[in-house]
Parts: sequence; structure tokens; C-alpha cells
Amino acid sequence: MMNVGLVGWRGMVGSVLMQRMQEENDFSLVDTTFFTTSQAGQPGPDIGKPVTPLKDAYDIDALKAMDVIITCQGGDYTKAVFEPLREAGWQGYWIDAASSLRMDDDAIIVLDPVNADVISQGLDAGVKTFVGGNCTVSLLLMAIGGLVEKGLVDWVSPMTYQAASGAGARNMRELISQMGDLRDEVKAELDDPASAILDIDRKVADRMRNGEFPTDQFGVPLAGSLIPWIDTPMPSGQSREEWKAEVEANKIIGRSESPVPIDGLCVRIGAMRCHSQALTIKLNKDLPVSEIESILASHNDWVKVIPNDREITVEELTPTKVTGTLSVPIGRIRKLSMGPEYISAFTVGDQLLWGAAEPLRRMLRILLD
Ligand code: HSE
Repeated sequence: MMNVGLVGWRGMVGSVLMQRMQEENDFSLVDTTFFTTSQAGQPGPDIGKPVTPLKDAYDIDALKAMDVIITCQGGDYTKAVFEPLREAGWQGYWIDAASSLRMDDDAIIVLDPVNADVISQGLDAGVKTFVGGNCTVSLLLMAIGGLVEKGLVDWVSPMTYQAASGAGARNMRELISQMGDLRDEVKAELDDPASAILDIDRKVADRMRNGEFPTDQFGVPLAGSLIPWIDTPMPSGQSREEWKAEVEANKIIGRSESPVPIDGLCVRIGAMRCHSQALTIKLNKDLPVSEIESILASHNDWVKVIPNDREITVEELTPTKVTGTLSVPIGRIRKLSMGPEYISAFTVGDQLLWGAAEPLRRMLRILLD
């Protein structure tokens, strides 16, 4: 059996990964060693079979004994450990949730329902570093993979509605605290049906602008508002999150040399863990909507085309419906008035599953095949 080391398995992405690995019985196929940055020697987690005590995640010799290392520990850990480990002669497979190695020439971004061919060619060529993609990018490609695979896309402009979880666990807590804070502020007025809505609105706005509103994580209110900037600024005027869309998506599909333009604005909204994206897609052909829908639906087992019908859309195409599932619905597919090759679409996906943990455990499975 392969020796698999897991690092960062207690954090948010790591916990989702652990849950998925248990659901899919991945642990029965490998010998797993759990690493820790702070609690070496303590008992490992319950995975239905005995595990050794936790090992130190900075112990290069202990890491070297692994055939595969999967890390959700974050970019700083990768930066500290990956090079020393390779320099120490380690030839194993490194599977990483963090972005630090993503754009390295030696690394492949894994999303096997979309790029199984790129992964398999990489393995044949001796690639040993596999990195999960940015969540928005992975979810976009899971949704529109059919059109991309058939070479039908001239360009895409994704306008995103990104959940708090993308910013981290503490941000999710802060979002709920902000929601509760606002409700508490106007509880008496809400309980009184005769109170004036504009008084409630003014009190809510005053509270959001008040220095006591909980904004330590986001820096500004998210509940009752939105934040039209994610990650650091780039010289292009894009945010880093926006910059990633084109470079990562094209790297995933092996088109970095002749990239499909993908650019839009990324916005944080008050959803918990599902990222949504409103897409404008310029096709290179005038295809009937029914054909577009069938191309999208047949691409992978998780994408689900939602008819452009109001009742079905408001039930099926929302973070509420999708959260905690692997389903990637795409709907609102219609021709735009700009011309027959311009279509709209709206897609939703759980950013902790397909957006983070799932491609990593599936990469492990590919190594085991
Ligand atoms: N950067 C993403 C976000 C999450 O902030 O939503 C990770 O890919």
C-alpha cells in the first residue's frame, strides 16, 4: 500500500477532505500518516483503522517516508517545506490545496473531470506536483467544461458572487455575527408590525457604519452589503482573484500558449460556502440553446443543466440548494441581445468541495489506479 501523509487535515478544507475520504473509503486503500504543525505525538484521528501518533509536519525525514503527501496546511507551509523536501531527494507525489505552486511549470492544476488528459500526460512525463485550482476557476470549468472541450468558446466574462468561506473559517463566523448584530439592532421594531420600515432601514445603515459593527475579518460590512474586491491588486487593475481566472483556467485545460480570454469582476457576497457566477459567453458558432444545454449536460457527472424557467431556477440554482453537495448546476442559459453567439449562464458550486477538497482526493485515486 502507498504511504500517504496528510497535513492540514484539521482546518476547514482539510476537514472537508477528511469527510470526503471517509465517505469514499479512500483510507482503506492507503496507509495514512497524519502530520501536525503543533501537536506531534498526540493520537491520530479516528479513520476506522489504527493510525500512528501524529508526526511533526516540519520533520523532513518523516515526510520523506511518504509516497504521497496531501497538504491543506496553506501556502506558508508549502513555501517552508516543499523545496527542502525535494532538495533532500524526495521523489514522491505532492498534492496541494494552496496556490503557491500552482503556476510553476513543474506543477499541474488538478481537476480531472476537465483535464484528465493533461494529468495523465503529466504523469507519463514524470510530473510529481499536483495542485488544486482556485475555487472559482474550478467551479467555472466544471460548469462549462462541455463548451470548452469542444472548442466552442471565444471568450468568457464571469461576474462572481463569492461566499464567505473563500476568505476563511473566521470570515464565515463574522458574516453570521454581522447578520445577528443587525437583527439584534432592530429587534424591537421588527416585533412591532406598526413600526416604519424606513426607521428600521436607517438604524441598520447606522449600525453598519458604526465602528462597533464586527468587521475584524472582512474589514468592512458584508451582511446587508457586498465587497467588490477579492484578494490583492494586480498592475492590470484586476484583483488577483480576477487575474487567476484566465491564467489558471487555461493552464488546467492545457491552453496556456493560446489562451481563451476569461475576465470579469469578482465580488464577495453574504453566502456561506457556495460561489456563484454570472457568465457572458461568446461562442464561435450560432448554436441552438437546446444543443448548448446538451453539450453542457453531457460533459461530466456533476454538472446539471437547469431549464431557464423561473420556478425551477429559484429552487435549484442557489447556494441554499447546492451547499454541501457536489452538484454544479448551470442555468439561465439564453441568447443575449448582442447577437446569436452571445449567451448568458449562471452557475453555483460548493467552493469547499469541487472548489477545494474533491480534486485533491480524486488525484490520489488516480495515483492508486
Ligand atoms: N480565493 C477564493 C475566495 C477562495 O476568496 O473566494 C479560494 O480559491
